[in-house]
Amino acid sequence: MTQELTSPSPAPQAPGTGRGPGWWRDAVIYQVYVRSFADSDGDGIGDLRGARERLPYLKDLGVDAVWLTPFYASPQADGGYDVADYRAVDPLFGTLQDADELIRAAHDLGLRVIVDIVPNHTSDRHPWFQDPELARQRYLFRPGKGESGELPPNDWESVFGGPAWTRTDRGDWYLHLFAPEQPDLNWDNPEVHAEFEAIMRFWLDLGVDGFRVDVAHGMIKAPGLPDIGHGAQAQLIGAQVLPFFDQDGVHAIHRAWRRLLDGYGDARGKQVIGVAEAWAPTAERLALYVRPDELHQAFNFQFLNAPWQSDALRSVIDASLAATASVGAPTTWVLSNHDVVRHTTRLGGSLARARAATLLMLALPGSAYLYQGEELGLPEVTDLPDEVRQDPAFFRGGRATGAVGPGTDTESAPDGAAAGGQDGFRDGCRVPLPWSGELPPYGFGPGGSWLPQPADWGGLTIAAQTGDPASTLELYRAALELRRRLPGLGDGPMSWAPAPDGVLAFTRPGLLCTVNPLGHDVGLPAPGTPLLSSAPVTVDDATAQLPGDSCTWWAI
Ligand code: NOJ
Repeated sequence: MTQELTSPSPAPQAPGTGRGPGWWRDAVIYQVYVRSFADSDGDGIGDLRGARERLPYLKDLGVDAVWLTPFYASPQADGGYDVADYRAVDPLFGTLQDADELIRAAHDLGLRVIVDIVPNHTSDRHPWFQDPELARQRYLFRPGKGESGELPPNDWESVFGGPAWTRTDRGDWYLHLFAPEQPDLNWDNPEVHAEFEAIMRFWLDLGVDGFRVDVAHGMIKAPGLPDIGHGAQAQLIGAQVLPFFDQDGVHAIHRAWRRLLDGYGDARGKQVIGVAEAWAPTAERLALYVRPDELHQAFNFQFLNAPWQSDALRSVIDASLAATASVGAPTTWVLSNHDVVRHTTRLGGSLARARAATLLMLALPGSAYLYQGEELGLPEVTDLPDEVRQDPAFFRGGRATGAVGPGTDTESAPDGAAAGGQDGFRDGCRVPLPWSGELPPYGFGPGGSWLPQPADWGGLTIAAQTGDPASTLELYRAALELRRRLPGLGDGPMSWAPAPDGVLAFTRPGLLCTVNPLGHDVGLPAPGTPLLSSAPVTVDDATAQLPGDSCTWWAI
C-alpha cells in the first residue's frame, strides 16, 4: 500500500486551556509584532484594534497565547523598545482602552496575553531622563576619560554599533547598550526596582498573563564598569559573559519578579509568567534564568542558531533539555522573531527546511514561540531600499544581529551559506503581514504598509493558503491541532531512536518523529503510521521514504 500524506484533519479543541501544573510548560505562543500585524485605521502601521479584530485567526490557528511587542508611548527610535511612558499606549497603536479590549477579547477566545517589558533602558524622552537631577540617579552617568573628559568612560560598544556612551551638554557621559535614545537604567537604585514592579502591577491589573522581559540579561553591570579590551563586542554577545551582559546580579531581580508574579497570580487563581529574552553563553547559564524561583521561560536561541544538520541539532536539543531539566523547567523553543532573519531564509532559503524545522520544534518537549508570518512560510525581504529602513543599527553602522547574539550573521549561517538577510538588519523580517488579495498591502489595512511588501506575495496570503492542504498555513494548523489532541506531545519525556546516518528519530509517548535534514530521500523501515509530514512521505509495504529536508510525525 502507498500512503501520501501532508496533513490530517483531527477534531478541533479549544486552545488556551493550559494542561497540568503550569500552562506555559507546553504552550505555543504567537508573537504579534503589532506594527506589522494588522492595521485598522489606514495609516499603514499595525495597531491594537487591528490585532483585536484578527484574534479569531489566531484562535483558529490553534495557539495558546499571544505575545504583543511594545505598544507603549515611544518616539520609536527602536521600534518601541525605547519607552517614554510604560503605562500609556502610543497613539500610533491606539489607546489604553484598545489594549483593555484586546486583552478581554483574547481571554474570551481562550487566548492568554503576554506583553513586553523593557527594563534595561528607557527612551531618552522618558520623564526621568528629561530631568537632570533624576537622570543622574536613575541612569548610568560617568565622567569621561582624557584630559578634559573627552573620551568615553570605557571601551564598551553599543549592540547597534559605535560606542555605548554619549556625551551630554554638561560634559559627562551616559551609557546606552543600544541606541543613544535608549539610556541604560541604574538598577542599583531601589526606585528603579519599585517603578518596574509598579509597571508590572499596572499591566497585571489590566489582565495580562505575563511579560516577555527584554534584555533580561542586561540590567546589572560589573562593578567599576571594566574595559573589555577589544572591539567587535557584538559578536561576543551570547558567546561569553560580558561586564554588561549575563552578570550574576540580574538573577536577584528575576527572583523578586517571580515573587511578584506568583503572589499576584495566587491571589487571583491564575498563573502569570515571565519569559526571558536572555543571551547566555551556555545552556547551563541560560537555565539559571528559569530556576524555580526565577522566570518561567527563556528563549532557546541556541536552537534558533543551530545549523540544519543532524549532529548539531541533536547536541543542541540534548544540551537544552538537560540544562532546563536540571532546574525543573521546560525548554522554550523558537525559530524566528522580529530580530532575526526569518527561518525560511536563514535555513538556506528553503521552505522545505523551514517546514521541517517547525515540525521538529513542535514535536519537542516544552513550549514554543511562533513569529507572525512564519506560519505562511514568509521569507525575509532582502531588497528593501535604504530610504525605507528603520532599524537603528542600520543608521549606526552596526550589525543588528548583535542585538540578539551571534548566529544570524553570514559567518555562522547554516552550511556556511549566506544567512540571506539584508546586511544583518532587521527590517526584512518586519514587513507587514499579507492577509488577502493579489496586491500590496494584501489586506494588511485600508491604507498602505509602513514597509513595502513584495509584489509576489499574493500566493502567500492567509486567504490564499487557507484550505489548501499543501500550504504551510495548513501544516501549522494541523500540527497545532495534533499538539492539543495527542497527550504525548507538549511537556513530557523524549528519547532518541535508531535512525540512518544523518537522520534523527525520537519518540514521545505514542509518537515517533523523524527528521531528514539531508538534501535527498532516505529509506527506513516504516516506524508506524504517518500522522503529519512537512513533505509528502511515502510508505510502501514496510518501507518509508523520507523526502530530503523533511520531518514526519508517526503514530506508534
Ligand atoms: C531585544 C528586542 O527584541 C530588540 O528588538 C531590541 O532592539 C533590543 N532588545 C533592545 O531593546
